[in-house]
Amino acid sequence: MSHSPRSLAIVYHSPFGHTAKVAEFIAQGAQNMQVQVQVMNIEQIDWDVLDQADGLIFGSPAYMGSVTGAFKLFMDTTSKRWKDRTWQGKLAAGFTNSGGLSGDKLAVLQQINLFAMQHGMLWAGLPLMPTGIQPTDLNRLAGFLGLMTQSDNAPVEITPPEGDLNTALWFGEYIAAMLYRLNSGQ
Ligand SMILES: Cc1cc2nc3c(=O)[nH]c(=O)nc-3n(C[C@H](O)[C@H](O)[C@H](O)COP(=O)(O)O)c2cc1C
Repeated sequence: MSHSPRSLAIVYHSPFGHTAKVAEFIAQGAQNMQVQVQVMNIEQIDWDVLDQADGLIFGSPAYMGSVTGAFKLFMDTTSKRWKDRTWQGKLAAGFTNSGGLSGDKLAVLQQINLFAMQHGMLWAGLPLMPTGIQPTDLNRLAGFLGLMTQSDNAPVEITPPEGDLNTALWFGEYIAAMLYRLNSGQ
């Protein structure tokens, strides 16, 4: 089966670099599937790229059990696109990193999910059964609404752990596969 090229944009906020690191692993996963990926910090948004992408993946660290203030500002800035239905029908997914094991990451993913639903996007979760709770295990945090990673308030050089980063890789490959599936009508 031949696939036409698909494009994905990953939009994130990451004051301390952990969420950015996760974004790069998601991007690598999608690139492994021959999807074109643009990784974008919300401080430098290219709106044309977002409008033209087939899918958008949104990522924010957990701040006070919520997306960061800057990420919320990004969300609010899309209101004209919401009105014009610019992103309706695009694939959407979310990811979040926090210091704490829980860190109330679920609330962050729910906010991102609701944002995507307001835009009429098609949500893709993380259908990956957890393989354990060790730092090397896939989906050790057992998130299904989206990708959860944890950095333990440790330096970005050593966190998130290997299992979380490999889960990010898997997530990127999965979202890429969903893009192809949407395109082929299967
Ligand atoms: C203002 C602020 C609020 C935070 N709130 C939470 C929180 O609610 N739960 C949590 O687990 N970690 C919390 N943290 C830790 C961050 O989630 C963690 O440092 C972040 O994921 C790092 O992401 P980044 O490196 O991409 O900036 C908070 C950090 C800051 C600075």
